[in-house]
Amino acid sequence: MRIGILGAGGMADALGTQWARAGHEVMISGRDASASATRAATMTAEAAHTRAEAARARAETAGAEAQVAGARGEVVGVRAGSWAEAAAFGEVVMVAVRQAGLTGVLESAGTALRGKPVIDVANAEGPYDPARPIAPLIRDLTGGHVVKAFNLCHVDVWRLTPPVFDGRPLAVPLCGDDPAALAAVRTLVTDLGCTPVDGGGLERAVLLEATAVFMIGLWFGGADAQAVLPPVAYSGV
Ligand SMILES: NC(=O)c1ccc[n+]([C@@H]2O[C@H](COP(=O)([O-])OP(=O)(O)OC[C@H]3O[C@@H](n4cnc5c(N)ncnc54)[C@H](OP(=O)(O)O)[C@@H]3O)[C@@H](O)[C@H]2O)c1
Repeated sequence: MRIGILGAGGMADALGTQWARAGHEVMISGRDASASATRAATMTAEAAHTRAEAARARAETAGAEAQVAGARGEVVGVRAGSWAEAAAFGEVVMVAVRQAGLTGVLESAGTALRGKPVIDVANAEGPYDPARPIAPLIRDLTGGHVVKAFNLCHVDVWRLTPPVFDGRPLAVPLCGDDPAALAAVRTLVTDLGCTPVDGGGLERAVLLEATAVFMIGLWFGGADAQAVLPPVAYSGV
């Protein structure tokens, strides 16, 4: 899959590197072309490194045949471009810019996102107003098929290969309306070693945004946010 990323910061780096490792073509974009190019080169090296490590680990458990299969795959170099170039490049485009830059970046991206799957990872900076959710704003500014995802976990979680805790792959809720866009993002979640979870339509993205605000508040307060929910056997369902 060709993945365009609007952003060259932490989330672009973490998720883009994972997808490059999985064999996708990735283009990032930022305000400073030279910094973006440097970041793209680092991502390429990291993706190749973790892919080789994974192949070695597979070979140790599955023998020489797996080693050959693992060595055959090549990481396609991560590219860097302008906002418009990354938007045009992606069959799927992830928006991973700070809220302060969101509107300007989407304007610079132009019309290329219309009709495409657009991944929205944004969380509010400053006080969150649930009357003004971010996901529908991105939909309205781009005309894309927005899927809200990846906003509930800190960037370092998205660097884990894979994000598995106590033997359980991380579950990633997705909110979106378009079946093809949801299918594409489910694939990208699975490529991280995570499990996609149906979170409902885009009108429910506001709940994901509010959940992030609530959980981050608990974490910053020193609480174990994961511990607030019981196992499913005790869910009452
Ligand atoms: N960090 C996390 O743990 C985390 C977790 C979940 C969700 N998110 C969300 O992911 C998105 C990206 O976060 P990040 O951690 O990747 O941020 P970051 O490392 O600070 O990167 C921000 C990106 O936004 C770009 N940008 C464009 N206009 C900007 C402006 N006016 N002010 C600031 N930055 C501007 C930056 O461009 P340059 O490259 O030119 O600097 C950079 O590429 C945010 O919506 C955030 O809420 C973050």
